Amino acid sequence: MPPIGAGSMYKTAMLGCGGRARGHADAYRFVKHGRLAAICDMDEKRLNTFGDEFGISSRYTDLDAMLEKEKPDVLHIVTSPVVPSSNERLRYPLMKQASDHGVPAAIIEKPVAIEGEDWKQIAGLAKETKTKFVVNTQLNFHPKNLELKKDVAEGRIGEIRFIDASARSRAAEQGGHVLQLVSSYIDDAHPVRVLGQIAGSEHLNSAGGHPGPTHAAAQVLYENGVHVSIAFGTEFGQMASDDPGTYGHKRVFIVGTKGFVHWRFSSWERATP
Ligand SMILES: NC(=O)c1ccc[n+]([C@@H]2O[C@H](COP(=O)([O-])OP(=O)(O)OC[C@H]3O[C@@H](n4cnc5c(N)ncnc54)[C@H](O)[C@@H]3O)[C@@H](O)[C@H]2O)c1
Repeated sequence: MPPIGAGSMYKTAMLGCGGRARGHADAYRFVKHGRLAAICDMDEKRLNTFGDEFGISSRYTDLDAMLEKEKPDVLHIVTSPVVPSSNERLRYPLMKQASDHGVPAAIIEKPVAIEGEDWKQIAGLAKETKTKFVVNTQLNFHPKNLELKKDVAEGRIGEIRFIDASARSRAAEQGGHVLQLVSSYIDDAHPVRVLGQIAGSEHLNSAGGHPGPTHAAAQVLYENGVHVSIAFGTEFGQMASDDPGTYGHKRVFIVGTKGFVHWRFSSWERATP
């Protein structure tokens, strides 16, 4: 996508008009070079409620029709990873559709994939597509994380030796946020080996949220030699505060040769001698 000069605008479009899409649309209050021009949802009632709320008149119930007619510079893909009623996988087909239409850039919600099969399809697409896909995760720009990441990048904890990360919600729900956070502390190094265990099958269909095991724990080796321990779900994910809910317990603990930083959703600590 060519860079835009001062005064010009990206034309953007939204696929999905559910709860999360409201956050995306609302963020346009702060966007100077983008205009949300069109929306699409197969559920006409949702489409029209959303369109009325955000003052968008170009409305579609079919993605192909929207992409054909509107030719947006940026597409927001704000759907669940599966169709809740049938468990049909949605991410790859929708990303492929955007790619086939030559959409220059797409913002996609987490979780990108929910199992090995759709991950492989998406990794294959990544090799051939010209569309730039970005994933919307919530912790990367958290102000305290930015500060702690600066400590790590500037060597205040020495050389990274080990990372411990967890969430008490399931891997398919908030695991992606925590894994992205781990990567962001180590220059987006790729994992090369995983030895893990899962337990609990009650969420394997999508009735209670995104499909996936209830509990997961693993040792992960990254390409830069860093070892990471991860745990998701209430059996292994640490309590990071006395919040009785599951969502407020995301955390990452980076141990270095000279000190550590420990970010938690609602608190933090560090030793940077
Ligand atoms: N990044 C974050 O912090 C964060 C926060 C909340 C939710 N999310 C994620 O956002 C995603 C969406 O969440 P939600 O609660 O808005 O989901 P939702 O299911 O309520 O809404 C999705 C909408 O997309 C529509 N849709 C799906 N496939 C379609 C298709 N092919 N064509 C037209 N319309 C289609 C559905 O009809 C539905 O209205 C989820 O993956 C969720 O995990 C992320």
